[in-house]
Amino acid sequence: MTTRAIEALASRPHASALRIRPLDAGDRLQVAAMFGRLSPESLYQRFHSAGVRVADAILDQVLAGHVLLAELDGGLVGLASYHAMPELARAELAVVVEDGHQRRGVGKALCAALSNDARRAGIRHLWAELLRTNQGMLRLLHSLELPMRQSATFDVLQVTLDLQPA
Ligand SMILES: CC(C)(COP(=O)(O)OP(=O)(O)OC[C@H]1O[C@@H](n2cnc3c(N)ncnc32)[C@H](O)[C@@H]1OP(=O)(O)O)[C@@H](O)C(=O)NCCC(=O)NCCS
Repeated sequence: MTTRAIEALASRPHASALRIRPLDAGDRLQVAAMFGRLSPESLYQRFHSAGVRVADAILDQVLAGHVLLAELDGGLVGLASYHAMPELARAELAVVVEDGHQRRGVGKALCAALSNDARRAGIRHLWAELLRTNQGMLRLLHSLELPMRQSATFDVLQVTLDLQPA
């Protein structure tokens, strides 16, 4: 992340209270609980499928990636993950922030930390698939100030961020 982006993040009201940390072995229940608190709209934007709860198999998939959690006052409010394809130095990025905490810089902080981890792990390209209607996620990706490309298929945008070697 550039200095300007870090300064912008630090100016958010709750920035000092926000903690980004890696997933621990004991986090599964609280991640499931956070997914359970998401609105149908956020669930749809994150998983691209309708439903009111995240199936255990989907939770397993999410937690099998490289996962970062965002906590505010000790409570889980967001999760970002990537799933790497090491042979291609590419990984798929996804993120979700609890509805009541959106638009406060949490998603950006998670994605900035995740892209730094990915860079250090030797990943050169992070991509995300988002619905065309997901202007919030598109804006978040722009705000990371990384070289970015996008292509579209029907109602899905594939956005690729290029990471400079660490
Ligand atoms: C998309 C999402 C992760 C964004 O997280 P967030 O914490 O609300 O985003 P931030 O507050 O960090 O905002 C980052 C930037 O995006 C902008 N942004 C965020 N949501 C926005 C929205 N709905 N409309 C317009 N801009 C938006 C912010 O203004 C900010 O821009 P800035 O740095 O220029 O000020 C969150 O809305 C979410 O969880 N949505 C549901 C799940 C989802 O869509 N996941 C993405 C698919 S992988």
